[in-house]
Amino acid sequence: MQVKNKPLRPKGKLGILTPGMGAVSTTFIAGVEAIRRGKAKPIGSLTQMGTIRLGKRTDKRSPMIKEFIPLAGLDDLVFGGWDIFEDDVYTAALKAGVLEKELIEGIRPFLESVKPMKAVFDQRYVKNLTGTWVKKGKNLFDLAGQLMDDMKAFKEKNKCDRLVVVWCASTEIFIKPSKVHQSLEAFEKGLKENDPEIAPSMIYAYAALSLGIPFANGAPNLTVDIPALLELADKNNVPVCGKDFKTGQTLMKTIIAPGLKSRMIGLNGWFSTNILGNRDGEVLDDPDSFKTKEESKLSVLEHILQPELYPDLYDKFYHKVRINYYPPRGDNKEGWDNIDIFGWLGYPMQIKVDFLCRDSILAAPIVLDLALFMDLASRIGFKGIQEWLSFYFKSPQHAAGLYPEHDLFIQLMKLKNTLRYIQGEDLITHLGQEYYD
Ligand SMILES: NC(=O)c1ccc[n+]([C@@H]2O[C@H](COP(=O)([O-])OP(=O)(O)OC[C@H]3O[C@@H](n4cnc5c(N)ncnc54)[C@H](O)[C@@H]3O)[C@@H](O)[C@H]2O)c1
Repeated sequence: MQVKNKPLRPKGKLGILTPGMGAVSTTFIAGVEAIRRGKAKPIGSLTQMGTIRLGKRTDKRSPMIKEFIPLAGLDDLVFGGWDIFEDDVYTAALKAGVLEKELIEGIRPFLESVKPMKAVFDQRYVKNLTGTWVKKGKNLFDLAGQLMDDMKAFKEKNKCDRLVVVWCASTEIFIKPSKVHQSLEAFEKGLKENDPEIAPSMIYAYAALSLGIPFANGAPNLTVDIPALLELADKNNVPVCGKDFKTGQTLMKTIIAPGLKSRMIGLNGWFSTNILGNRDGEVLDDPDSFKTKEESKLSVLEHILQPELYPDLYDKFYHKVRINYYPPRGDNKEGWDNIDIFGWLGYPMQIKVDFLCRDSILAAPIVLDLALFMDLASRIGFKGIQEWLSFYFKSPQHAAGLYPEHDLFIQLMKLKNTLRYIQGEDLITHLGQEYYD
């Protein structure tokens, strides 16, 4: 990927639009506002807290990422989005129950001012929700046009210079790419003919890409991971990325599994189970939505452990993932992992993980980082799949013919080397011979 335009400090406002204004989105918006007012720090955000080493270790150059690379500043962000419920962000944040009431009340007028636009929704794709704040249209093409009108109107009203779209809506049912997804021409024909294989998330993505707006997919839905929309992204020079924010149990998996593999420790089985009680949990209680999530969660270990290269260690390990909807827990999920491993001479050992995590607290900084990095990508002329943002995803989108990179540490190295590349700095190989010559 070529850096077509020099990365300059952006001017003007960046509008961040999220289809879905539930737990993740409201935690993100309220969090950014609390940070802007000096009430909290952007913990968990690489763009805000991270540093990047440049040159040799002896050079002692480790600027903050946000100073090294020209990203939009938090004060220049404006928020909007769509939901199938009419609640403003204040009400939605209270209902989501992630943040303390005191924090939400402290920024109430701001949160009340962010109201969702009417959604494009089809209950066949999210069976456990019934929407009341939903657009009507002649056909899917007409609905896509209405979304484009929303985007243009939001941009104008809020005097934004640029927009990005980050999908934070519910997980849709599992579908495989079919004929209508294979080319832009077939897709546009399908929109006009109300093809049932076109999911609502694809209509949002189509609308954004048609207007040259970057699109990131935080859920495991197929969405922008189809040839038709990749063709559109290529045609309009727009960056895309996905799928499924890497938080919670899968984040832990991609931290632990590379460690086991690096020491050639074998794996017999990995059993993961969760309880969660938020709306996401309710949606995932439907087997078809769960299947989308399951596929995304399961693929991680296979790719990290590479059984084909290490048959003695990882051949036929048993991997199971369960998600149980348990309302009393709300957003405060608990995830258990039982990991059966084996070491020297095949002696068995076990690791038990009990992660009392807060899903949206882990996801919110990812939304921020993705919005800022996707805006950067768009400004410098990167288009199509942004594999360097794999760091943030459970099922990273990748070019055809490649396998996805799931190892969190390789993903981080790739991300930071991409930033060095963008700024014309030497890439860091970690060879380090020069210190001893
Ligand atoms: N929280 C995490 O750690 C995490 C991690 C990975 C992925 N995700 C994914 O992010 C998404 C959001 O998670 P959440 O916890 O905020 O869920 P949530 O249920 O609280 O919010 C999703 C919102 O999307 C709305 N919605 C559904 N279909 C829509 C449509 N077609 N258009 C507009 N709005 C629509 C729902 O009404 C709901 O308010 C989910 O798909 C989830 O699987 C979350």
